[in-house]
Amino acid sequence: MKRVLKWIGIIVGSLLGIVVLVYAVVAVISAGRINRTYEVSADFALSVPDDPERIAEGQRLYTIMCQSCHGENLAGQTFADLMAGRIVIANLTSGEGGIGSNRSDEAIAQAVWYGVKPDGSSTILMPPEFNQAVNLTDMENLIAYIRSVPPVETTAAKTRLGPMMRVMHVTNQFPVVTAEHVALDSPPLSAHASQDGSGLGKQRAAFCTACHGTDLTGDPIGGPNITPHETALGTWSQDDFVRALREGLRPDGSAISTEMPWETLHFYTDEELHAMWAYLQTIDPVARDVE
Ligand code: HEC
Ligand code: HEC
Repeated sequence: MKRVLKWIGIIVGSLLGIVVLVYAVVAVISAGRINRTYEVSADFALSVPDDPERIAEGQRLYTIMCQSCHGENLAGQTFADLMAGRIVIANLTSGEGGIGSNRSDEAIAQAVWYGVKPDGSSTILMPPEFNQAVNLTDMENLIAYIRSVPPVETTAAKTRLGPMMRVMHVTNQFPVVTAEHVALDSPPLSAHASQDGSGLGKQRAAFCTACHGTDLTGDPIGGPNITPHETALGTWSQDDFVRALREGLRPDGSAISTEMPWETLHFYTDEELHAMWAYLQTIDPVARDVE
């Protein structure tokens, strides 16, 4: 009996040892990748406006794309738990603890488009999809809005990743280190590229890829497949699509959960929704996995 217990002890001990060792390797690899620095070689020139119309347009885009993380007052937020670690979403205002007072317009744009901070380090957990979703004019409007809001003070804290985030990082299950996921030499999209409706549609749908997957065929921890296959949105009409994004209702009248952020997506204009719908008709239809 004693011998059996001893062996069980040895086996459990070795397994624990292996887990600790594997995690140590994961932590070292992850830290190495987080500590890398990056250089953006793409060129861009901004001219940030200060007229009320473009500030209001910036606010509309902010509400759709940024508010869920950076908050209604732009002060950001901090989450902490044992597995995820401490995740700090930046305060964008010019208040103490905010980046608004010590970032140039270009530095803000560079962080959003390329995930690279002024010191060359990557932003952590700032979504990479904005590289495609925010065109040059959008960026100018967004910065104009960010510059217009009242300062909010926050205590500065740094993100510290917990074990779950580090494993997701090292196994590439989630874009943790933003700059690893964008082409640092590709110039920002221009709003002119969007003058034919499908260009605008593609730019706006780039934001949906953050949850619905890069090719919109769905993401297990995000949203479902929204390609034009008959098992996905193939049987929907444009009106059905507009209703889903404005009111959160499917064609059969059932409610789409607010994990799908339709409450803010309803700020898309008719023109944007129609362009997005037209674009969705042009992507490869892929069958939805049966749940
Ligand atoms: C999914 C959540 C999320 C969304 C959506 C998001 N951000 Fe962020 N953002 C973050 C996190 C997290 C950080 C902190 C990154 C860091 O400090 O490493 C951050 C940091 C920033 C920074 C500061 C970068 C620096 O130089 O320190 C700016 C500027 C910014 N975000 C702008 C935006 C804008 C504009 C949008 C909308 C177009 C947006 N963010 C949408 C999560 C988000
Ligand atoms: C923050 C994550 C997120 C973003 C961003 C997002 N979605 Fe979703 N979406 C979801 C989730 C989650 C669901 C599933 C909701 C449910 O099951 O009730 C969903 C469901 C949907 C549905 C309903 C599909 C069905 O068959 O029931 C449509 C249509 C849709 N999204 C379109 C879009 C479009 C277009 C965009 C971009 C403008 C977008 N979504 C952006 C998370 C997101």
